[in-house]
Amino acid sequence: MQKYNIPCARSASFSEYTKAEEYIRQQTPPIVIKADGLAAGKGVIVADSIRQALDALAGIMQSKIVGSAGDRVLVEEYLSGREMSAFAFTDAHAVVPMVPACDYKRVYDGDQGPNTGGMGSYSPPPFYNPALAKAVMKNIMSPAVSAMHEEGRPYKGVLYGGLMITNNGPKVLEFNARFGDPEAQVTLPRLKTDLVDIMLAIDNNELDKTKIEWSEDACVGVVMASGGYPGSYRTGFPIAGLNEVDKDILVFHAGTKMGAAGEVLTSGGRVLTVVATGRTIAEARDKVYANISKINFEGCHYRKDIADIKGS
Ligand SMILES: Nc1ncnc2c1ncn2[C@@H]1O[C@H](COP(=O)(O)OP(=O)(O)O)[C@@H](O)[C@H]1O
Ligand SMILES: [Mg+2]
Repeated sequence: MQKYNIPCARSASFSEYTKAEEYIRQQTPPIVIKADGLAAGKGVIVADSIRQALDALAGIMQSKIVGSAGDRVLVEEYLSGREMSAFAFTDAHAVVPMVPACDYKRVYDGDQGPNTGGMGSYSPPPFYNPALAKAVMKNIMSPAVSAMHEEGRPYKGVLYGGLMITNNGPKVLEFNARFGDPEAQVTLPRLKTDLVDIMLAIDNNELDKTKIEWSEDACVGVVMASGGYPGSYRTGFPIAGLNEVDKDILVFHAGTKMGAAGEVLTSGGRVLTVVATGRTIAEARDKVYANISKINFEGCHYRKDIADIKGS
């Protein structure tokens, strides 16, 4: 990102503990410590004090709490602002924006408790507007796709930009090479064009010739999880009420399986995502919560504050 001037947090990377420690001591908190490898979502610590930053560093580099993913560490400037997930389709030449979304990582209401794979999401973000859309494409998504080309690693598919919308414009926290989960559940229902046509166009390098249309509707998705998730949980419980939901409600199965008699049983931590669309976020949110209460299984829990964006 630095090489191609893609806006991101200022950072320094270290493979030596003492050098990282020395650098951290010169910073003003908050400061972000990142293991420079895949760490199953446990490699990033936003530290509010130097003490906490040094503890995080010791955990990653000395105690190796995320294994070899912690051989290198990034120490990053803390970016404040609003977080948003941006997406684009690309055939390595054309870059076409998808609609963006906001997701919820913490298990409990008010962003409390441990991180999860994602407890809910909504689209569009209330602060998203044409100027922001343009900046995201012009400064981030398009340059990233050209950069990968220039580096001899052209990328085709869905590019996911995890962004912080700061007072100085959108900046990148991370890129992923996929749709988001649970963001896909609230962006793809807004897609009016057939996704298969888009995928084929990407494969045939014809994305520039494909018209991609999105609905103006808002979409809200809430994840129903097993009791105890993201810690240990039990599975195999029957799920009641799946046929009780309104016709226009989408229920995406993730951690489910079919029992011997054809009944649906829980089989994972995140069990279902229940999704509603509406003219506004508030309407979609009311619909999703009116319907989610019809579905039940033993120990089931879900956040009650997804897309509760009053005042945003
Ligand atoms: N530079 C930063 N400034 C502020 N918050 C950050 C920064 N980097 C990461 N974060 C926070 O930490 C979370 C996880 O970081 P991310 O880079 O997305 O890693 P992961 O691979 O675990 O998703 C982000 O969603 C964001 O809330
Ligand atoms: Mg992330």
